[in-house]
Amino acid sequence: MLLKMFHRFCFCLWRLVGGVHYRYRSEEGTVTLRSGVTELKNDDQIQWRFGNEETLIAEINEQTNRFSVFDDVLDGRFRDRLTLDNETGSLTITDIRTKHAGVYKAQTNNETISIKLKVDTDVKEVSVKMRNSVTLSSGVTDMMNDDQIKWRFESKEIAEVNVTAGRFSVFDDVLGGRFRDRLKLDKKTGSLIITDIRTEHAGDYRIHTNYLYIFFHLYVYDEISVKEEDSVTLNPNLTEMMDYDDIHWRFGYENTVIAKIYNRRIRLYDDVLDGRFSNRLKLDKQTGHLTITNITSEHAGGYKVHYRMRNVLFILTVLDSAYCCGTTEAAIRLVVTALMGVASAAAVVVLVYDIRSRRAEQD
Ligand SMILES: *[C@@H]1O[C@H](CO)[C@@H](O)[C@H](O)[C@H]1NC(C)=O
Ligand SMILES: *[C@@H]1O[C@H](CO)[C@@H](O)[C@H](O)[C@H]1NC(C)=O
Ligand SMILES: *[C@@H]1O[C@H](CO)[C@@H](O)[C@H](O)[C@H]1NC(C)=O
Ligand SMILES: *[C@@H]1O[C@H](CO)[C@@H](O)[C@H](O)[C@H]1NC(C)=O
Ligand SMILES: *[C@@H]1O[C@H](CO)[C@@H](O)[C@H](O)[C@H]1NC(C)=O
Repeated sequence: MLLKMFHRFCFCLWRLVGGVHYRYRSEEGTVTLRSGVTELKNDDQIQWRFGNEETLIAEINEQTNRFSVFDDVLDGRFRDRLTLDNETGSLTITDIRTKHAGVYKAQTNNETISIKLKVDTDVKEVSVKMRNSVTLSSGVTDMMNDDQIKWRFESKEIAEVNVTAGRFSVFDDVLGGRFRDRLKLDKKTGSLIITDIRTEHAGDYRIHTNYLYIFFHLYVYDEISVKEEDSVTLNPNLTEMMDYDDIHWRFGYENTVIAKIYNRRIRLYDDVLDGRFSNRLKLDKQTGHLTITNITSEHAGGYKVHYRMRNVLFILTVLDSAYCCGTTEAAIRLVVTALMGVASAAAVVVLVYDIRSRRAEQD
């Protein structure tokens, strides 16, 4: 809510300052691009064009009273999303997606206005199983709209595409080589492929292009089986752990905190969930490992450890118990999804646009 107000405020402020740079948050994913005309007159013509190829997407001809949208162009990426205002010639785009990012041009009788539409999405949460591969999708449909694509992991640059030069680079020696031989770039879209995932690859990724900014949170999960009455130690490989780091361990669909290291002190919450963890938990202060002893079927399920900005999940199966065989893909997915927290399906989009106008050259 506060964020929304802040963005509204920004929007107004920028307009007062000169109307060159707008930034606001659009809950509905809708944006109206102004043609620069305040009231259409009889001989007015406006053509709306998009992208490097300047594809015609909408046209107004007041003389013939024609308002046309061409929403089947560019593989239908604008289908049922365009509306023209019959008084001002403004173009409204609804249900904005990353594929709509780019430059729009409104050509009127005597000037051309360029509008840069940037699309920032909310965090996309992605989960991947240990040792598997994951593709973080760039959202770029045709790279020609962008000059440069940059991928970062926790603010360190790990890959870059120079579209103009057709150069694809990965920097897999950063961060102690944790990405060595694991990074690939899709030559068509600039998407990032990470192979042979380990716990140390969990965390925040972002892609930045001229018109796009996408933020990903990657959860890494592992599946572990244990017999009833045995013990299990969940090891998230927190190699960089410092003694001042806070760690939270959570369990199950409710994300109940069961243990944490907070202010250098260990706290165990073994009375939660009807005491099923009572006298069964051990948390190692040096390594952050969680040990559960005397396992019963009630301990089957998902565990999440949150450390710095990372989340690692463990899906625990208890053999020879009633829950033994709930390890189908669907069951695992359910447990993982519950632990991932806030659903990010809502298409909340942040848009930024830059407006520059120039008078057309005289013939
Ligand atoms: C514009 O469209 C609205 C709704 O379709 C209509 O009521 C109005 O008469 C139109 N105005 C002009 C100037 O064509
Ligand atoms: C642009 O054209 C409109 C009429 O279409 C006219 O009213 C306006 O003065 C023109 N602007 C400039 C800067 O020439
Ligand atoms: C991309 O490569 C071209 C040609 O090598 C170079 O001129 C340009 O500056 C590069 N772009 C960026 C953003 O580095
Ligand atoms: C921890 O790291 C070791 C060695 O890199 C690896 O074999 C193991 O699978 C990792 N475990 C987890 C849970 O990431
Ligand atoms: C393990 O838990 C069961 C109850 O689930 C209890 O009866 C048994 O005494 C426990 N064993 C140990 C070694 O604590």
